Amino acid sequence: MMSKQTDHYFTAEPASTAERRQLRVHLVGREVIVQTAPGIFCPDRVDIGTAVLLREAPVPPPTGNLLDIGSGWGPIALSLGLLSPDASIWAVDVNQRALALSRDNAKALGIIDFHGVTPEEVPAEIAFEAIWSNPPIRVGKLALHELLMKWLPRLTPGGSAYLVVRKNLGSDSLQRWLTTELEANQPGAFTVGRHGTARGFRLLSVHRDR
Ligand SMILES: C[S@@+](CC[C@H](N)C(=O)[O-])C[C@H]1O[C@@H](n2cnc3c(N)ncnc32)[C@H](O)[C@@H]1O
Repeated sequence: MMSKQTDHYFTAEPASTAERRQLRVHLVGREVIVQTAPGIFCPDRVDIGTAVLLREAPVPPPTGNLLDIGSGWGPIALSLGLLSPDASIWAVDVNQRALALSRDNAKALGIIDFHGVTPEEVPAEIAFEAIWSNPPIRVGKLALHELLMKWLPRLTPGGSAYLVVRKNLGSDSLQRWLTTELEANQPGAFTVGRHGTARGFRLLSVHRDR
């Protein structure tokens, strides 16, 4: 819940009090204590969609650059760091408070190679072996499409993305759109699929074949 009516979780600098609190959660089979705060997405627990992604996605690559688009306080990016301690983890968000929390949470969990940064701060030459995301559907279709087309083409050949989307928020039309758009942009390079369905969410997969 937002502490102020006017704050959205994708506000760059939320105006609500930056009062942090500790949260005990399970991430990829480990009980950990993290910090959260109001003014960010789902600060009181691991979101259901996020939990679906963390349970259903296959083990990420052990090394390389792994990206979480829209990291919030970090449940996905931290999980990538716990599962692949030798990888470089990129947690991008537009919410500065969320980014600060993700960085501090990574430090507390001993995840050293962790970059909690805005999209603009990710060096342009970096490509990603894996992308995991609970994307910000509520920014609107156009902004969401723009966001996905900014990052998905940056998968390395052989790399895969997993996106969790609520069924009643357009997961199936998003899957169709991704198939068409990626094929139009780079014919034959990507395969879009449905990796799983649970608790009202689809886990979409995007594999870069070449
Ligand atoms: C559905 S939330 C998921 C947060 C977190 N990954 C989780 O699972 O709890 C989506 C996140 O995307 C962020 N976001 C919104 N627009 C963005 C953009 N253009 N680039 C990166 N992140 C964005 C929001 O601030 C929010 O933290």
